[in-house]
Amino acid sequence: MSSAPTILRIARPDDWHLHLRDGAALAAVLPHTAAQFGRAIIMPNLKPPVTTLELARAYRDRIVQALAAHNAQREQAGRLPLVFEPLMTLYLTDNTSADDILRAHESGLVHAVKLYPAGATTNSDAGVTDLRRPIKALEAMERVGLPLCVHGEVVDPSVDLFDRERVFIDQKLIPLRRSLPGLRIVFEHITTREAAEYVRDAGSDGGDLGATITAHHLLYNRNAIFSGGVRPHYYCLPVLKRETHRLALVEAATSGDPRFFLGTDSAPHAKGLKEHACGCAGCYTALHAMELYATAFENAGKLDRLEGFASHFGADFYRLPRNTQTLTLERRPFAVPAAVAYGETELVPLDAGQTLAWTCVH
Ligand code: NCD
Ligand code: ZN
Repeated sequence: MSSAPTILRIARPDDWHLHLRDGAALAAVLPHTAAQFGRAIIMPNLKPPVTTLELARAYRDRIVQALAAHNAQREQAGRLPLVFEPLMTLYLTDNTSADDILRAHESGLVHAVKLYPAGATTNSDAGVTDLRRPIKALEAMERVGLPLCVHGEVVDPSVDLFDRERVFIDQKLIPLRRSLPGLRIVFEHITTREAAEYVRDAGSDGGDLGATITAHHLLYNRNAIFSGGVRPHYYCLPVLKRETHRLALVEAATSGDPRFFLGTDSAPHAKGLKEHACGCAGCYTALHAMELYATAFENAGKLDRLEGFASHFGADFYRLPRNTQTLTLERRPFAVPAAVAYGETELVPLDAGQTLAWTCVH
C-alpha cells in the first residue's frame, strides 16, 4: 500500500448541474464555481424560467458579464483572470415546440433541456404536467441528440417524499425511455440505490443514460437533516436518503463507470430563507465543491477515481472535449466559513464551521 497522497493533480473538472441564479446572487456565487470548474451546465429555473433560445442567450450574456466584472477586480489586485464557460439549458414546458428545440440546438449555445415535473422543486411551477404534452420537443431532441436532464421525482403528494425518486423510475423514466429509445438522458442528482442500479444496468432498452451525483449525497445520509435538531442547510431536493442509498451512490461514483459523473447541484438560497419556518431546498457547495468530493472519494479509499468522475466522463457524455488545464488539490485544512456574502444578504455553505482535509490551490 502506498501512503496517502498530499497533492492531487487532475484535469480541470466540470460541473454538470449548477444553479447560478441571477443579478447580485449570480455575481456572488459565479467566482466560486469559476475558480474550480472549466465549464458548468447552468440550470434554467430562474423566475421566469429560461424557456427559449433568446432567454438562454441573454442569461449567458449576463453570466459572461458577471465573470468579466469579477475578472476586472482580480486584475486590479494583480491576480490572473478566471476562465469559465457556461453551458446553457432550456427549461422544458408543456408548450416547448420542436422548433424551439431545433433552433436552440443549432445555436450551439444550448447543451441540454431540463425536465422539471411541475411542482417537484424550487421554481418548477412552469414545468411539465404530462410528458405527452411536449412530445414533439422530445422527439426533436431524440433526432438531434440533445440530452434531457431529468429531475427524477414524482410529484404525487400521496407518494412518500423519500420514495419519489424510486417511483419516478417505474412510472416515468422507464416508459419515457421505451417510447423514445434514442433520447439521451441524464438522471440528475440521483439519491437512491434504485437509481444507481437502474443507470448502471441500463442496456439497449433506450438511448444513452448518464447520472450526476452531488457531493452532499455522497457525504451524508438523512440523519444529517435531524442531528440534534432541524438542520436546514442539509435540506435539498431530492432529499437525503438512508445510509444504504448513500453507500450505493459512493459505490457508483467511485466505480469508474462513465455513466456516473459530477454535478454539484449547488443551489444557493439566502441564509434567512433557509433558516425559516418553511425553509428553501438546496445546499450551497460551489465554494468548496472539489474539497467535498475529494473528501468523499478519500473516505471510500478511491481518490484515484476522482479524475474520471469529475473531469472526464461528463465531457464524454456531452460530446465535448475534455479540459486540457489542470486543478490541484493539496492535503491542507480548509476551514469552511460560517457564511459568505450573497448580494445584500449571506449564504451558508454546506459544512459551515467545519474543516475539510483538502484545499484547492488557486
Ligand atoms: C434546487 C434550487 O434551489 O434551485 N434545489 C435543490 O434542493 N436542489 C432545485 C433542484 O435542483 O431541485
Ligand atoms: Zn438542481
